Amino acid sequence: MGLDSFLHSSVSHPVLRAWAAVPNTLSATSLMYPLFITSDRDGKEEIAAMPGVFRFGVNRLKEALDPLIKSGLRSVILFGVPREEHAVKDDVGSAAEDPSGPVILAIQLLRSLYPSLLVACDVCLCPYTSHGHCGVLNADGTINNPASIKRLAEISVQYARAGCHVIAPSDMMDCRIGAIKEGLHEAGLAGNVAVMAYSAKFASGFYGPFRDAACSAPAAGDRKRYQLPPASRGLARRAVIRDAKEGADIVMVKPGYPYLDLVRDTKEVLPDLPIAVYQVSGEYAMLWHAASNNVFTLRVGVMEATEACLRAGASIIITYYTPQILGWLNEAK
Ligand code: PBG
Ligand code: ZN
Repeated sequence: MGLDSFLHSSVSHPVLRAWAAVPNTLSATSLMYPLFITSDRDGKEEIAAMPGVFRFGVNRLKEALDPLIKSGLRSVILFGVPREEHAVKDDVGSAAEDPSGPVILAIQLLRSLYPSLLVACDVCLCPYTSHGHCGVLNADGTINNPASIKRLAEISVQYARAGCHVIAPSDMMDCRIGAIKEGLHEAGLAGNVAVMAYSAKFASGFYGPFRDAACSAPAAGDRKRYQLPPASRGLARRAVIRDAKEGADIVMVKPGYPYLDLVRDTKEVLPDLPIAVYQVSGEYAMLWHAASNNVFTLRVGVMEATEACLRAGASIIITYYTPQILGWLNEAK
C-alpha cells in the first residue's frame, strides 16, 4: 500500500476539512498566521526587517493571540527561534525537539489555551544546526540526505506527540515526506496528523527578512543545492507530484507573488490536494514599504496580493498580514 492511500490525516481536524474545498472568496479559514517563538520565554522582540512582526516567548503568546482568536483566527504555523544562551547548535540540530524548547512548549500551550485552533509547525534543521543548513552535511559540505530525512522524521514525531496537527517540512531534502509519513505511521500518529509539504520552494531572494527573524542564515554557501531554481517550472511540477505520491496532505508553493503560475500548474496536476501559498517575508516587506511610500494603501495592496493567491488555486495563504486581513474582513461584514 502506498503512503498516498491514507486519507484520515487529511480529515483529522475541522480546519483541514474546510481546506478540502477551494474557496473563491477570502475568509478567515484561508489564513494561516506564522509565529516566531523565541526561547526567551518572556521576550517580545520586533524584527527589524519586518516592521510590525515580533518574536514572542511562550509567556507572551496569550496576550498576542487572544485578540486574534476573537477576530476569527483558525490556524497558526510555528517557527522556533533558539537563542544562543538557551540552546547549543550542533551538526544534526539536536535542539529542534528539546522538550523544553520553544516549539514544544508553544504547541502544548496553544493546544490547551485554544481548543479549536489548528497548530502547524515548520520542521527544519536550519535554526538548530551549527552550519545553518537545512539538512545534515557530509564532511565535504554536501547534503547527507538519508541522515537528514531521518532527523526530520524524528523531529516530526516529537512535534506530533506534543500535539501539533500539521507537520510542515520546509527543508527541501529528497523524499522527506515519505520518511515523515512512515515515522508518523510507526508512532501510531499518522491518522491524526497531516503533512503540509513545502514542495515548490524556490531558492529565493525574498527570504532575506525571515533569515533575520529566525536567525537561520547559512554560515557558508547558499541553498541552491536543495531549493529550486527560480526559472524552473519542470522541477516545481516534479516536486509537487513527488510529494503527493509520498502522502502529502497539502502541497505548498513558496514564495507566492512571483510564482502564482505554479499555483495554477499545481492545481492542474493535483486537482485533489489543497494548495498552500506562502506569502514570504520579502513579500511582506515589499508591500509594507510600497504602502509606506504611498504606492497604494496597505489594505488595497495586501488584499489584492492575497486574493490573487486564491484565484490562482490556493486554499490556504500563509501570511504575516493575517492580523490586518482579519481586521479588514471583520470591518467589511
Ligand atoms: C527555513 C525557512 C525559510 C522560510 C521558511 N522556512 C527560509 C529559507 O529557506 O531560507 C522562509 C519564510 C519567509 O521568508 O517568510 N527552512
Ligand atoms: Zn531550513
